[in-house]
Order: sequence, then C-alpha cells, then structure tokens
Amino acid sequence: MKQIKQNIRLVLRGIYRIANGFLGFAYDFRRFVSYGGWKETLSDKEMRNYNIMMAYHGLEKSLSYKNRDPNAGWSAAEKVFLKLTQLKGITDIGYHDKAAKEVLTTFLTLAVNIDKPRAKQMLSALKELPLSSEDMHGAKEFSGDLYRQGVLANPEAFFNSRYSLREYKEETVDDELVKRAIKLAMKTPSVCNRHAWHIYHASDREIIDKALSYQNGNRPFGKKIPNLLIITTDLKAFFAGHEHYQHWIDGGLFSMSIMYALHSLGLASCPLNWSQRPKTDRALRKAIEIKPNHTVIMMMALGYPDEFNKVCSSSRRPFEDIYSEMKMK
Ligand SMILES: Cc1cc2nc3c(=O)[nH]c(=O)nc-3n(C[C@H](O)[C@H](O)[C@H](O)COP(=O)(O)O)c2cc1C
Repeated sequence: MKQIKQNIRLVLRGIYRIANGFLGFAYDFRRFVSYGGWKETLSDKEMRNYNIMMAYHGLEKSLSYKNRDPNAGWSAAEKVFLKLTQLKGITDIGYHDKAAKEVLTTFLTLAVNIDKPRAKQMLSALKELPLSSEDMHGAKEFSGDLYRQGVLANPEAFFNSRYSLREYKEETVDDELVKRAIKLAMKTPSVCNRHAWHIYHASDREIIDKALSYQNGNRPFGKKIPNLLIITTDLKAFFAGHEHYQHWIDGGLFSMSIMYALHSLGLASCPLNWSQRPKTDRALRKAIEIKPNHTVIMMMALGYPDEFNKVCSSSRRPFEDIYSEMKMK
C-alpha cells in the first residue's frame, strides 16, 4: 500500500512538473512572439542595430581571412548596403548603424573592389549618409604576442580560487568598479557579435531586497548582499525561429565572464538562478524596471570577500565523467 501511494505521488509530481514546464515554454514562446526580432522592424533603433550588426559581421569575417577570395563578401556587402539605404531620413542613429557604414566602406575600398562599378555606386550612395565612427571596425592584425598577453602565470590559481560567496563585507562596491567588471565581461563572444546583454545594477538596500524577494535561492544571506545585478539579454536581437534559445546561451556566457571579471578584480560573487515560473517573472517586472524585451538570465550577488570566509566545497566529479573522445559512429 505504502509503495502504491509513493508511486502515485511520483506520477502526480511528474505530471505537475511537466505541466509547469509546458507553462514555462508557452510563456517564453509568447515573449519571443511579442518581443523577438523576427519582425525585423528596421524603424526600431535597437532591432535595426542588432540586424545591421549581424549583416556587417559577415563582412568583417570576410575581411579577416589572411588568404581571402577576392570575389568573396559581395552578398554580405549587398545586405549591409540595403539596410544602410533604409537609414535615409532616420535621425535616431545607433552605434551599429555607424559601424556598418565603416565596415562596408572598408570592404568597398579594398584594392580588389574599388574599381568595380558596383563599389563606386555604393560608395557614392554612402557619402549621402552622414554617419561616422571613431572606433576601429572591419578586421585588424593581431599578433601572437598580443594573444599571449592573456596567458596567466598560474591559471589553476585563478580558476580554482573562484567560489560562489554568499556573505560579504558590509561595504558596498563602488559603481565604477562594478562597471569596470561589466566592461571586461563585454569582451564575451556572442552569436554574430550581437552582444545583446543588458545589466541592471543596484546597491540600494530597498531595491535589492525587493528584487530578491522574488528569487528563491538567497535565504538567509540575501538581506546582506551589498550589490545586486540582474543579467538580461534582449530578445530583439534574435531573428530566426531556431534562435529561440540563443539569448539564454549568450546571457549565460556573459554571466560567467562577469564572475571571472569580478574575481580578477578581487570581488566575490554568487549567481542566483532565475529559473522561475511565469508568475514570478511577471511579478519581478511589476516591481523592478526591466524592459519587457529583456529576458532575465540570472541575478548575481557581489561584494568584497571578508578576510575569513566559509564556502561550500562544491567538489567536481571526476574528469573522466565529463570527457569523451569524439568518435565516428
Ligand atoms: C545559473 C546558476 C544559478 C545559481 N543559483 C544559485 C542560487 O539561487 N542560490 C545560491 O546560493 N547559489 C546559486 N548558484 C551557485 C551554485 O550553487 C554554485 O555555483 C555551485 O555550487 C558551484 O560552486 P562554486 O560556484 O563555488 O564553484 C547558482 C549557480 C549558477 C551557475
């Protein structure tokens, strides 16, 4: 009898979990339909900038090959050109509108292209667009020595000394230091370089407490978290239907970079999951200003570590458990 009851409980729990999963999928799908970039509304500055960035990144890749096919890149160039021509009359110009023009100009003025009639035609049309950027766009040379600047004297010391810390010094971390960590994390790669992240930061007790009241993994330490981040990614950056998971992937990568960036600056952090029910996600959005098109990836506590800390060992399973040589079937 006891066994039967236990089995029934297991089945009911399974059904409940599947139903919850379904509600979550439906909520995410609704958000993708409402806010996703699939509409390609180029009059929307943000959507256009993600879209144009995707197009010119194809051109950047073509420019970056050491032995490039002299005929390559034209289809990407046409795409960028088409999007740029739609900027006529638009005053609300974004960063990537400008970058796109620079990259296309670099491509068109390559020795192999500049005398082509199509290149001349495009270049003359581009002159009509009053956009310019001071940043470096296109492709650049990058030596092995520069790459090796990233080599750590003791990588094990760096990676193995990061722990999720849940109790910090009382002191709030200065805004500038938090911003520095975020800037470092902005070097995170993202799909087609769309870098669709948006970070919300608070060091105000009332705001932190309010945001954390919807998060289920911060008890009992939440009350003393000195700084809180909410890491989000912008659904407007994702165009194709099969990209429906991409914002979580890009947001997850960014989140890890922030943790390492904070660690490199002597700050400690603890990721705080946002695997929440739709109801809770909606409630957070009612209480805290988060753009509706921004998907919450996770929250993150951060602060200065104390001189004496206690952390979970969180030991990792044996390497062999997670590693296999790839083989043909
Ligand atoms: C996405 C994500 C969500 C997490 N959520 C929580 C959380 O809600 N509360 C918490 O105390 N720890 C949370 N953690 C921290 C994990 O428990 C911790 O990373 C794990 O045990 C490994 O320990 P370490 O980070 O110290 O190496 C989360 C970690 C990740 C990556």
